[in-house]
Amino acid sequence: MTQELPGISADEIDRVARPLEEAATLPPAAYIRDDVFALETDRVFRKSWLPLARVDQVAKPGDFLSMDLLGQPVMIVHGQDGEIRVMSRTCLHRAAQVAEGNGNRKLFTCPYHSWSYDTAGQLVRAPLMEGAGDFAEADCRLPQVRTEIWQGFILANFDPDAAPFAPQVKTFETYFETFRLADMVVVRTLEYDSDWNWKVLVENFMEAYHHIGVHQETFEPAYHARDSRVPDNDGSWSILHMPAAHAELPPGLPPVEGLEDWQARDLFASVLYPHFLLGIQGSVVTWYQVFPESAGKLKLKIHICVPGAYAAFEGFDQIADEICHMVDAIHQEDIGANDTVWKGLNAPMTRQGRLSPLEKAIWQYNNWWLGKMAPEDGA
Ligand code: FES
Ligand SMILES: [Fe+2]
Repeated sequence: MTQELPGISADEIDRVARPLEEAATLPPAAYIRDDVFALETDRVFRKSWLPLARVDQVAKPGDFLSMDLLGQPVMIVHGQDGEIRVMSRTCLHRAAQVAEGNGNRKLFTCPYHSWSYDTAGQLVRAPLMEGAGDFAEADCRLPQVRTEIWQGFILANFDPDAAPFAPQVKTFETYFETFRLADMVVVRTLEYDSDWNWKVLVENFMEAYHHIGVHQETFEPAYHARDSRVPDNDGSWSILHMPAAHAELPPGLPPVEGLEDWQARDLFASVLYPHFLLGIQGSVVTWYQVFPESAGKLKLKIHICVPGAYAAFEGFDQIADEICHMVDAIHQEDIGANDTVWKGLNAPMTRQGRLSPLEKAIWQYNNWWLGKMAPEDGA
């Protein structure tokens, strides 16, 4: 018996869980209901490894980036001791934020009453506290979030009992080993605010079936929808492999050295569940960093990453601008698709639809989602 989900019947769950050839999409309630989103926050986001930044974005001791993660203001800090940490940036005195934005600091001094913390989050100075009994600066440290660095990505997890990330994605890592993701650096970031559920974005990212509709003049001539394939997975990830329709290499930066011809030509989309999205082609990685804000709202940052050595090429700025332009143009096509899907999901007559076998990654993903959201009793 699976546990119940708000607004979702056992029959609907059963249709999602069928073999791919018979499977249906998630029902609209999975996307549009606030109570489902609240459950997702508890059962999925707060228990998952979420990618926050690349190590090259906090390259030097003292570098920091601040952001809000599931309602918690956090900062990613490259400590003076060389360690990269993710910690709360809320002051231990009366809860002001000790940092905003990004930059480089030796100390984080709270703007309210000037308590100062070092780059490990340790309180080192609290002025005018002499009369406070039993107060010791040494006892005060900004709460730390579990952090792991994988292939140059800094991930964090609010669940103290979560299994380490890297062993869960071994097969995934092997698949992309030759692309040397750890050597990539972020060279540009595009930002979007969108009025859809975050899963609408993930699903759009993870199938090439829509090349024949949405991208018929952009992607379809180069990566035919019908040729796309999805390997079986053995963990919390999916890979969509889109073989190139033509033998010649696409224009732009040379591929990462050591790639097989097919690896250099083909396009890959991947998701490390729940929403760590990577598009990989030749020597360009587009990292879609998703920030779900409510059932019907998300923020998205698309980071363009290339091998560090390539960023120093002469004329690279222009190449980077061209890559940005292309990524944005494709994403604008996807925005149009996601807008119309979102309208449909909110319409009262909408029900589950049938999946194409080309949407195997969505099927993998939906069943993982159900396992997290509506686990078998006792699971
Ligand atoms: S709130 Fe930070 S020093 Fe008072
Ligand atoms: Fe698309």
